[in-house]
Amino acid sequence: MRISATMQKALNDQLRKEFGASYLYLSMAAYFAEKNLNGFARWMRMQAMEEAKHAMKIFDYVEDRGGRVTLEGIDRPPPDFPSALAVFEHARDHEAKVSSGIHQLFELAGAEKDWATQAMLQWFITEQVEEEKTSSQIVDTIKMIGDNASGLYMFDKELGRRGSSD
Ligand code: FEO
Repeated sequence: MRISATMQKALNDQLRKEFGASYLYLSMAAYFAEKNLNGFARWMRMQAMEEAKHAMKIFDYVEDRGGRVTLEGIDRPPPDFPSALAVFEHARDHEAKVSSGIHQLFELAGAEKDWATQAMLQWFITEQVEEEKTSSQIVDTIKMIGDNASGLYMFDKELGRRGSSD
């Protein structure tokens, strides 16, 4: 059964948000690269690619359900941030917003008895638990490091070891 016009619009909006997250993380990668925090920059680049993959999952799903993908404008991400901590706090808060968007979609799918969309969204719900956990843990670690430069140096190296499938 083809997705409803309402669901199509909501999924297209989520697709826009996922690309928006990708764009935001790329801006964070550029910020860290400029500061020579190359591990953090690499982590953010990987995250940006993950988000583009999330967007494409929705892209494919809308097409699989006989819907029409339409691309809307992406918000301009901030080019600068006050500190590494502020960057990861922003990322953590952004992920919480993404989660609530996914939960609203899930509710809409339930109201429409669109079980296939709910099944597709299950993957995103699980993924968001992981993404929120990871970003919160990074925030906590950076808080613990405080203004200890060698601590920050070590943590930058550690995050730089992130694999492309993480
Ligand atoms: Fe795809 Fe991190 O939300």
